[in-house]
This record gives sequence, structure tokens and C-alpha cells, in this order.
Amino acid sequence: MSESLLRVQNVSKRFGNFVALSDISLDIAAGERIGIIGPNGSGKTTLINCIAGRLRPETGQIVFGGEDVTRLAPHQRARRGLARTFQIPQPFHGMTVIENLYVPLEYGSRQSAPRNEQSDEPLRDAAMRILVSLGLGAKADDGCRALSQIELRKLELARALAVNPRLLVSDEAMAGLSSDEVDEVLEILFALAARGITVIMIEHIMRAIMRFSERVLCIVSGKLIASGAPADIVQHPEVQRAYIGD
Ligand SMILES: Nc1ncnc2c1ncn2[C@@H]1O[C@H](COP(=O)(O)OP(=O)(O)O)[C@@H](O)[C@H]1O
Ligand SMILES: [Mg+2]
Repeated sequence: MSESLLRVQNVSKRFGNFVALSDISLDIAAGERIGIIGPNGSGKTTLINCIAGRLRPETGQIVFGGEDVTRLAPHQRARRGLARTFQIPQPFHGMTVIENLYVPLEYGSRQSAPRNEQSDEPLRDAAMRILVSLGLGAKADDGCRALSQIELRKLELARALAVNPRLLVSDEAMAGLSSDEVDEVLEILFALAARGITVIMIEHIMRAIMRFSERVLCIVSGKLIASGAPADIVQHPEVQRAYIGD
């Protein structure tokens, strides 16, 4: 196994008396394609919020690229190459599609010096390159309100890619899409993985999870109950119980 990129150690998160995450530990190697499954409300998004810095866990550590980032703000983690999409797309509504990429490109991007000192590429060209790679080039100057569901999902991915990530966490980017659109997003995630980006895909669509993931993690009621090859995970008794009920 190659070196660890993300290590979650004994992370717990409560909301009041409700335990949303209970002592979660996991290790993800650089370059892995990971799927995360689990019933609604099992804590998947909460885990991503703890990893990305939107939530602070009560216990445990998040180690990214060998560095303890547990106390860092989301933008500080983004600058280290940790990017995520939101389950409910969160574009800057008052801006055009391409303008949505300027903030992450300028302020979130993974490099030590401000972007323009390191790169000759003008901001608009850098943003356009990302949009074109996702098939959004023709929408660059449109407002976000005019976007379809899949275009909004792609814009979420584009904004995440603008930080030049080492790790991309996609939180249900396929929800509500048609079968062909699911395949389109799947191809995008495969292409990013082929570029060397470690990808964590949270999804309910099992066909996509089975095709994409080298390893699947299953979270039920805030606990990591299984981790393994996709074919083994679907056979796992606890996973079956969580989905089918007993
Ligand atoms: N900010 C919050 N305040 C209170 N409860 C929350 C908050 N965020 C999530 N929860 C609760 O934590 C549980 C896990 O939610 P979530 O992580 O969104 O699940 P999933 O993404 O697996 O569907 C749910 O019961 C949800 O209602
Ligand atoms: Mg969720």
C-alpha cells in the first residue's frame, strides 16, 4: 500500500446528546478510489464536515498528508489540497459560473505563494480550463440560477478542482441525476482519479459505488461497520442488515 494521505483517528462528533459519529478511524492511501455508503442520517456528511473542517470533532484527530489538521479552518485545509463538494450545491448565486471559480483559484489554491506569482496563466484561463474539462465551457458566462441539476453538480466539482486538490470528497454528486448523467459524473471522477487525485465518493447509487470504488466503507449510526472490496462489502452481513433490516 502506498503512503497514507488521510488518516482519521478515533473521531467522535455529537450534536447535543445525539452521537453522530462514534470513534471513527480510517486510513486512505494516496491514489485510492474510495466509496462511502450508509443509510440516510448515518453520519457520512458529518464525517466529511469533520475531515474538511466545517465541524470540529469532540475527540480524535484528522491527519492529512502527514500533518495534523484537526485545528485548521476549512480554507487552510483546502490550501493543503483537501477539497469537497456539498450535497446541496452551494454556488455564489450572484456570480456567473466562471466567477464562482475565482475565489477558490485565488485564495484556496494549493501552493505556497499567491497564484499569480507562481503561474503565468491568467485567472480566467485557469478557470476556463477547469470548466471545459467538465463540459461546462459554454456556460462560463451564464448566471448560476440558469443551471440544470447536473450543471450545478459539475460546478460544485469545478469549484473543488479549483483548489488543485490532492483529495476530492464528492458528497452525493449523483443524487437526482438520470442514469446517463450518473455515468457522466462517474467518468469525471474516474478522469480525476487517473490524474492522481485521491477520490472519496459518497453515494447511494450502488451501481456507481460498485464500478468506481477500489474499497468501500460502510457507516451505520455513526459507526464504521465495514471496509473492504465492493464485492465483499455487499455480502457483508452487517451491511445487508443495515440496508434490508432484520
Ligand atoms: N448541524 C447539525 N445539528 C444537529 N444534528 C445534525 C447536524 N448535522 C447532522 N445532524 C444529524 O446527524 C445525523 C447524521 O447526519 P448526516 O451526517 O447528514 O448523515 P448522512 O450524510 O449519512 O445522511 C442525522 O441524524 C442528522 O440529523
Ligand atoms: Mg449526507
